[in-house]
Amino acid sequence: MLKLATLVLLILPLLCAACDPVVKNVTSADGTTIYADATGDPGKQSLVFVHGFSFSGVVFDRLFTNKKLSKNFYLVRYDMRGHGRSGKPDSEEAYKSARYAEDFSAVSEAFGLEKPFYVGWSLGASIIADIIANIDPIPIAGAVALSGSPSVSEDILHNIASDLLQTLFPEFVENDNVTLGLQARVDVVETLFKNPSNIPFSLQSEYLGQTVVLTPAVSGRVASRPSDRTKLLAAGDAGTLPLMIIFGDAEKLFVPSAIIDIFKPHFKDLVLETVSGGHASFEDSSARVVTAISSFVSDVLKKQKKRALRFSL
Ligand SMILES: *[C@@H]1O[C@H](CO)[C@@H](O)[C@H](O)[C@H]1NC(C)=O
Ligand SMILES: *[C@@H]1O[C@H](CO)[C@@H](O)[C@H](O)[C@H]1NC(C)=O
Repeated sequence: MLKLATLVLLILPLLCAACDPVVKNVTSADGTTIYADATGDPGKQSLVFVHGFSFSGVVFDRLFTNKKLSKNFYLVRYDMRGHGRSGKPDSEEAYKSARYAEDFSAVSEAFGLEKPFYVGWSLGASIIADIIANIDPIPIAGAVALSGSPSVSEDILHNIASDLLQTLFPEFVENDNVTLGLQARVDVVETLFKNPSNIPFSLQSEYLGQTVVLTPAVSGRVASRPSDRTKLLAAGDAGTLPLMIIFGDAEKLFVPSAIIDIFKPHFKDLVLETVSGGHASFEDSSARVVTAISSFVSDVLKKQKKRALRFSL
């Protein structure tokens, strides 16, 4: 009996090393507070995850308890400005590309990350362009666009957004018609999953609830902010940014082929992966998404090691 109790006491802290995140309120360069948390061993390769439009880092709750992921990597996530538990400034200035890069830098610094991989879901993927446009040298070892485009701007939006997204978006940011705005939130959450009827109502409600903390005024700003992809494409041409794009086979909000057409000509080693799932494929097929990200990261690190070895010889 005593032995068992001792064993439990010994094992408990080990088990909870992965389930007890370190939470930080990070202050970004313009003074905005960015909510961030980290799970796992800081000595491992770090991966920084950012959620999509209208949600928060909470969407990664299940991914962050995935054993394979949390055992092999130091998992960091933060809430985009305007979203979730982060600050919600309302000026246009606050949603410039440089601000998004500064938020990433502030979080990296707060957790002492060196060359993390960046994984952005949906609109979170567009921060890849902000990081590359504003930070030199490139502060990440590689980037994953998870059901999103590595850059989003007005000039390509009509090509990369599906008709459904182009219909739902104006309804979502609708300021005056509550009925329409609320229904759009319900509709958006339905589009996230391959088979919404298989997703428990409790989980759908968790998604739905997050959309309410994004105000209509801020929602217009975060989705139509200017972004310049010149440096991102140049990094592709120079081969200095390993890039992976993952889409679910039942994607309803973006047009994957239109996104691939923009980036493939510049990123000759672009890694493409299709998994069974909808827009939130990491909920529908979490094991496949974890495997895809893990092998991309380990391939990139292996290549880097080989190159370093060649230079040292
Ligand atoms: C972060 O800020 C929020 C809101 O001000 C506060 O409730 C929370 O306790 C803070 N968390 C930490 C870890 O400082
Ligand atoms: C609000 O939107 C609903 C659904 O489209 C529509 O039926 C209704 O007429 C609208 N209300 C107003 C006041 O425009």
